[in-house]
Amino acid sequence: MKTDMNIETLCVHSGKDKRNDTGAIAVPIYQSATYAHPAIGESTGFDYSRVHNPTRQCLEELIAQLEGGKHALAFSTGMAAIGAIMELFSPGDHIITSANLYGGTSRLFDTVSHKNGIRIDRIDMSDPRILRDRITAHTKAVFIETPTNPLMRVTDIAAVRDIIGQEMRLIVDNTFLTPYFQKPLALGADIVVHSGTKYLGGHNDTLAGFIVTSNDMLIERLRYLYKTIGACLSPFDSFLIIRGIKTLALRMEKSQQNAKEITQWLSAHPRVRAVYYPGLPDHPDYATSKKQASGFGAMIAFEVDNEETVKAVLKRLKIILYAESLGGVETLITYPVLQTHADLPKETRDELGINHRLLRLSVGIESAGDLIADLAQAFSSE
Ligand SMILES: Cc1ncc(COP(=O)(O)O)c(C=O)c1O
Repeated sequence: MKTDMNIETLCVHSGKDKRNDTGAIAVPIYQSATYAHPAIGESTGFDYSRVHNPTRQCLEELIAQLEGGKHALAFSTGMAAIGAIMELFSPGDHIITSANLYGGTSRLFDTVSHKNGIRIDRIDMSDPRILRDRITAHTKAVFIETPTNPLMRVTDIAAVRDIIGQEMRLIVDNTFLTPYFQKPLALGADIVVHSGTKYLGGHNDTLAGFIVTSNDMLIERLRYLYKTIGACLSPFDSFLIIRGIKTLALRMEKSQQNAKEITQWLSAHPRVRAVYYPGLPDHPDYATSKKQASGFGAMIAFEVDNEETVKAVLKRLKIILYAESLGGVETLITYPVLQTHADLPKETRDELGINHRLLRLSVGIESAGDLIADLAQAFSSE
């Protein structure tokens, strides 16, 4: 597949099944656990589906192309992908991360990685001087999420790479913007990680995770970990994610357009105290966002006047669903303090601004007018 195509075309045409000469347009679901060998020492390239599966391999090629990387691995969930990355490190290693991360990633770092002797340091990545000061002789990697979940802070990926030099690994969670809006490998990342459950799948019907890299040594080690740990994506789920990606460009554009309209409406509402969206010119990271991404995405966080408003709004919304997760065609509203970030210690939540007045919206592809009308009725009957 030529890689000079635009991403909209790659989403539809990349990752084809080259083994299949039936003319099938869709990638077949190779629902086989194991594969027969022609003779001793000969192989079709497939031995056992934990290691390689043809449907999953098509998806991995597709994701690698979208991210502009050489290699990809498809995991059963985003957390499985992040968990495998953490197995690259050893006791005594030091990793610097964004203070603001998806709660599940923080939980993994605080409990599993900590138990494994890996020292995690959380910092405000918006100030490069802080990062420079925290690097020690044991620092092996920087892990960032940009924009962050849920407060939508943006980190300058190229600036981080400049500060850390070439020895340390730079890992970027690209779940919120996807390669449609942001390509971290081109900005200096070594590894891109995704919750494919979100925009890549796009329909709130499948869990998945991805690792993408262009580094041959890293992928060799990651493949070894992948087959050893065994958190691989099933053939059927691989098929569903391939299908979801075909409409990634359309969904990202429509969701972003809806998000822009909703941020304007929220910004003008008397009960809304703050709106966090990097596409707003007064957002502190607006300039960085514009520099490194081609869009701002469709995730919004906002703070209302008090907890009673939160309760009323969550109860009364009709189209917008009160549910965890993001990136699907349906607009979802999340209450981070009780859901995605409930496991963070209260002091950490307070420090980050994840309070009982904060709500997060993952804007879907419905009519913006209907979504705003739904918010209006939920706020007004309160
Ligand atoms: C930014 C981010 N990264 C990773 C994950 C974990 O992905 P999964 O739920 O697929 O395990 C999530 C889940 O919400 C997320 O929001």
